[in-house]
Amino acid sequence: MPEIKKIGVLTGGGDSSGLNAAIRGVVMRAADYGYEVLGIHDGWAGLINGDAALLSIDDVREILSHGGTILGTSRTNPFKKEEDVVKCIENVKKLGLDAVVAIGGDDTLGVANKLSQRGVPCVGVPKTMDNDVSGTDYCIGFDTAVTVAVDAVERLRDTARSHRRIMVLEVMGRDAGWVALVTAMAGGADWVLIPEVEPDFDAMCDHLLKLRAAGKPYGVVVVSEGVNIPGLAEEPSGETDAFGHVRLGLRGVGHIVGNEIEKRTGIQTRVAVVGHIQRGGSPTVTDRFYATRLGMAAVDLVSRGEFGKMPAFAGGEIRVVDLATAVGKTKLVPESLYEEAVALFK
Ligand code: F6P
Repeated sequence: MPEIKKIGVLTGGGDSSGLNAAIRGVVMRAADYGYEVLGIHDGWAGLINGDAALLSIDDVREILSHGGTILGTSRTNPFKKEEDVVKCIENVKKLGLDAVVAIGGDDTLGVANKLSQRGVPCVGVPKTMDNDVSGTDYCIGFDTAVTVAVDAVERLRDTARSHRRIMVLEVMGRDAGWVALVTAMAGGADWVLIPEVEPDFDAMCDHLLKLRAAGKPYGVVVVSEGVNIPGLAEEPSGETDAFGHVRLGLRGVGHIVGNEIEKRTGIQTRVAVVGHIQRGGSPTVTDRFYATRLGMAAVDLVSRGEFGKMPAFAGGEIRVVDLATAVGKTKLVPESLYEEAVALFK
């Protein structure tokens, strides 16, 4: 068993509610083992630059209910340049870190996995409002994101009813439709479009017209920003981040879908984009509870010398998953769940 005295913790990728709860879980559990904790700033950028500061229990006592991340975050990818990987490895030594806990989605966890293979003892914690990390049923931030989006659906339904309109809500979710699907099912929407399923505009518009004919002249349609509309360019500027992702929000799929509905059905249609509102604010109870436990479980893994792994929720309990098997494959919405959602469109 390695002797551990000091661990680092960082948050990488897009922020989401519950990150501070996880950081607090890490610091609290570390105290049980007598570890010092260094908070690494701005994701992997902080490790490249050696930018970190001690985190005490007092620093994290009050952060459980706060949105964002007290450590800052970035989409920095050290593996874009070998010299940055070398800097990370050197700074782990310089800062005296015996382990690094990296809280993030597939990109951040992918870096943790590669650094583990280069001898840096890393443990991951799954976080992304997209909820698409493989090997875990839950990712930090998802519950808050869908809670915000369901609230938006309910507000939009009120105004849709008043004006006898269709309201389209575009939600985040890059490669997987979890946010859109759960928002639609939990919000009682009238249709959903997700990246996993090619949109069927005929079926959607027929359904909206049937509802109108049956005496419900309004409705809400939830659209994932990542939905694949044939003929639509990936992103207008072609700009990508350090992990090669385009900014899907710029495609404006909500407006494209809204225009299509109005054109085909003749029903007045308006569009709202919930966007980054889903990522901020006080985390839900679910995000606080699970994020805290994942942060604590990550330190337990460190104490057992189980590096290159992450704690995950599967089947209602915490399990240990190899980062190597979790990263690089998006957890998609299964067809059977999409069919369940469709069965509700009546
Ligand atoms: O990956 C999480 C996510 O919220 C995606 O749903 C979204 O496409 C992306 O981040 C937005 O990133 P940014 O905050 O960099 O615009």
